[in-house]
Amino acid sequence: MTPSDPSRYTSPMFKTIIEPFKIKVVEPIRMTTREERQAALKQAHYNMFNIRAKDILIDLLTDSGTSAMSSEQWAAMMRGDNAYAGSNSFYRFEAAVKDLTGFAHIIPTHQGRAAERILFSTVCGKGQIVPNNTHFDTTRANIEAAGAEAVDFVIAEGKQPQSRHPFKGNIDLNKLEALLKEAKPGQVPLCMLTVTNNSGGGQPVSMENLRQTSVLCHRYGVPLFLDACRFAENAYFIKLREPGYQSKPAAAIAREMYRLSDGCTMSAKKDGLVNIGGFLGMNNEDWAQECRNLLVLTEGFPTYGGLAGRDLDAIAQGLQEVLDEDYLKYRLRSVEYLAERLAKIGYPIVQPPGGHAVYIDARALLPHIPTTQFPAQSLCSSIYEHGGIRTGEIGNAMFGRNVGGREIPSDMDLVRMAIPRRAYTQSHIDYVVELAEHVFKLRETLRGLRVIRQAPVLRHFTIEFEPIQ
Ligand code: F0G
Repeated sequence: MTPSDPSRYTSPMFKTIIEPFKIKVVEPIRMTTREERQAALKQAHYNMFNIRAKDILIDLLTDSGTSAMSSEQWAAMMRGDNAYAGSNSFYRFEAAVKDLTGFAHIIPTHQGRAAERILFSTVCGKGQIVPNNTHFDTTRANIEAAGAEAVDFVIAEGKQPQSRHPFKGNIDLNKLEALLKEAKPGQVPLCMLTVTNNSGGGQPVSMENLRQTSVLCHRYGVPLFLDACRFAENAYFIKLREPGYQSKPAAAIAREMYRLSDGCTMSAKKDGLVNIGGFLGMNNEDWAQECRNLLVLTEGFPTYGGLAGRDLDAIAQGLQEVLDEDYLKYRLRSVEYLAERLAKIGYPIVQPPGGHAVYIDARALLPHIPTTQFPAQSLCSSIYEHGGIRTGEIGNAMFGRNVGGREIPSDMDLVRMAIPRRAYTQSHIDYVVELAEHVFKLRETLRGLRVIRQAPVLRHFTIEFEPIQ
């Protein structure tokens, strides 16, 4: 049978889509009592980042760095060569990334934000503007740290949780063109597209939108970079939803996405299927040289970039496995399964569900809690208190801002249930659904939170709250 034969794992006679792997290594998880969790919440000041993993049953805080690696990846790690310069691991990694992306220069980094910092501090400065569909929090922060401005141009549907547009990650080409037209030469050093659009609900960008963005950017001499963390999930959405792509292999779709771009930042902790690692890819030789100079200063020599050789080998293998269509089919379906069950209970969720997570619209679920009292954070706390599941706030703590004591609220208040790759089974998800049903019944009793401490940037990581009585 050919690799793209959809009947390899599941007979066309049966509709059940199974996890296309079996379990070789297990890690115990621990149930706690409600009293223990209440104490943990209080000690954590109601910030999910402050809860210890030992106190969590199922961890849906993030899909980043939480993947289960395959036996082939572990085998690749044993082959890892840790030579300081020119390691065999680097050349295997470089070949795999070049084969996928086609970029001339591949620079390893320890994770996505290191790639962002190196890129933006090399190419951005004061007075410059970087457009994106929606900048992820670290992307925005790194652009701003370089003195430039980060602007979000996602299409209007991308901000409407209930809109069923198939590509809600698309960038608004009119807004982008208006910016490019108005900008002084060199004022827009690059344009980014985040695939999938994490902050907007894990929503895909269509190939058509990517192509038009590429044409537009190139007409104005502006390079297009992908924030490629979840490129494989985006590619499979294109296969499922975009006319003309149904019979094209996901790997070929991914290659086409990269070929329309001039570079990328990548956190391999997502679609690289590894626990640490990332890279920067680009065609511009001068930029690459400057980025390597900075890399040596802060990350390491250009053939390891802050990683062990074994990590580079695990990425090279992971990038191949992530494009396996049995895996991608299972991956998107398992997220959709959770979304369907939550919607059936009555949860307002971002529709259609994204590729790596389900996003609950906490503002719609808890209309009695104003944004300034962090409804999404309140829902995260309640889900943890009642069943030991950790979720993530993508709302006012993350995207709202406190400017001189005045709150500028975020566009949305979402709770993200991010699904680690290959780590949990369907019964774990069924437990999540049962807990969600319990919390749904209690929703009117949930209370808002008051900030007692916060940092000036990326406040959500360390923010501390107390409940409003
Ligand atoms: N870009 C996007 C779209 C991301 O989702 C992330 C990380 C990064 C860049 C930064 O990569 O963590 O390797 O430095 N997202 C994680 C998340 C943290 O939970 O969504 P990193």
